Amino acid sequence: MNLTDTIKSAFGKTFPEADFSFVKVVPATDPKFGDYQCNDALKLAKRFGKNPREIAAMVAANIDSSLKVEIAGPGFLNLTVSPEWLDEELAKISSNAALGIPQSGKGKKIVIDYSSPNAAKQMHIGHIRSTVIGNAIDRIFRALGYDVIADNHLGDWGTQFGILIKGYRECLSQEERDNLSVPNLEKCYVLSAAKAKEDEAWKDDCRKELVKLQQGDEANLALWKKFIEISINEFNRMYDKLGVKFDTYRGESYYNDTMPGIVEKLIEMGLAVESEGAMIVNLEEEKLGVAIVRKSDGGYNYTTSDLACVKMRVEEYDPERIIYVTDARQQLHFKQWFNIAAKMGINAKLVHVPFGLMSFQGKAISTREGNLIKLDELLSEAQRRSLAIVMSRRTTNGDSGAPEPSPEDLALSRSLGYGAVKYTDLSHDPITDIDFSWDKALALEGNSGPYLQYAYARVCSLLEKAGEVPEGDFAVTTPSEKRLALQLLEFPGAVVRAAEAYKPSVLADYLFQTAQLYSSFYQNSPILKSEDDVKNARLRLCKLFGEILAKGLNILGIETPRHI
Ligand code: ARG
Repeated sequence: MNLTDTIKSAFGKTFPEADFSFVKVVPATDPKFGDYQCNDALKLAKRFGKNPREIAAMVAANIDSSLKVEIAGPGFLNLTVSPEWLDEELAKISSNAALGIPQSGKGKKIVIDYSSPNAAKQMHIGHIRSTVIGNAIDRIFRALGYDVIADNHLGDWGTQFGILIKGYRECLSQEERDNLSVPNLEKCYVLSAAKAKEDEAWKDDCRKELVKLQQGDEANLALWKKFIEISINEFNRMYDKLGVKFDTYRGESYYNDTMPGIVEKLIEMGLAVESEGAMIVNLEEEKLGVAIVRKSDGGYNYTTSDLACVKMRVEEYDPERIIYVTDARQQLHFKQWFNIAAKMGINAKLVHVPFGLMSFQGKAISTREGNLIKLDELLSEAQRRSLAIVMSRRTTNGDSGAPEPSPEDLALSRSLGYGAVKYTDLSHDPITDIDFSWDKALALEGNSGPYLQYAYARVCSLLEKAGEVPEGDFAVTTPSEKRLALQLLEFPGAVVRAAEAYKPSVLADYLFQTAQLYSSFYQNSPILKSEDDVKNARLRLCKLFGEILAKGLNILGIETPRHI
């Protein structure tokens, strides 16, 4: 029985008539108050007209004797676990394939919509957040046993394609057309858009190309397909580097045919009304302004495509939840259409996870400013910098100068460099703005990806040196062992809390704290030099720490090389 259940049953024995479902046991804030605490006796005091310390004492009298209980302050229950209890719990999680993570999502479906870049453009550093945070949330829910459908809702439809088609035919050389790439597409977009600005006839042609595309003109459709294919290939190159996989790539275009029906339904329900030639849904009463669902030129927009999309997702997958990961500037958009979807009777739980901006060493990065740092460049730079660190740690033989990096060195530098970039993102609460700095991201000490990756490699090399660790108990005795052991038991809880809050940072914080406790355990407790019994018990703790660290980092999408 876990501690919360033990204490709940003591509450139940003491006050059979009370509702005690809120009772919770949490780790003690300070080891001098014991190992865990329960502060809920206070909540019952009023109801039973008793002093809270008295209530706490009554509950304490019913707590199983394997726990040492102390009543503190106004009526806190401070709990100290026995070595046997600790041993049993450690054995339980170390023998469990999921390391104790509850499989509470079994049989439940979730759709998660993330990354979702716009076609014909290179991904820039702003996209990294949706991709990295979204992928970590995806992995967190999978770890909890959910059936997750990761859907990349590409921006693959809209006015930009008229501009692109015209630009492709008139602004690119034959050679560029033959070797079409995303940078070429970007260039042709910029040139064609600039012309459209100063030349009405050009602008009109772009509009005509768009209409032709929308009406299914073969040549334009073929070009559009080619642009999308090239874009997806380029995005996949980034996803491969980042270890990100999607189950589907249904872009906005996928919902094209169902958008008119959405607007009709909204009109039928009396939700959409005409205003200056456009169809709008008025949400002023809910203080959410006005959402346009059909523009005055007959075109549909972002709100309509999200409504069409959610309807199909619900019909096809019947998910219990749909999670959207986008930057915080889209908050109003999501509030608006979540509200409309509820009125239309969509009953899946819809969750928007907004994230803040990432600036780069003090410089803001905004999609409207141009000259954005490309994701590809950022990742190459991360690898280059971490390769320099890897090579500086290799011993050079005599006068042969700097050694050539081996394929292993290169692979390692990718793991460390990409890990550093990802961890920077994931260790912050998504909603906060981040100022990215290479020094912090790549620091070998402090709260960084490489720090945790090194901690893992170190424990691996210790275990390799030690050889086979025989089965047996953990025999936790010293304070630093106990601190680490209690922390390891919190791993499943950290994964659950990260999911509940949609914040991978909860798990990242947990892993960092765990690594710090491990390091103080390691400094205070001789391992390989100890007597066999002590040595083996400590090695078991080290092994469990290594497994938890690796699993936690993998849930965040960060690689864990065994040798660094
Ligand atoms: N393409 C959008 C962008 O780049 C993100 C789409 C997010 N998903 C959605 N269903 N609206 O900002």
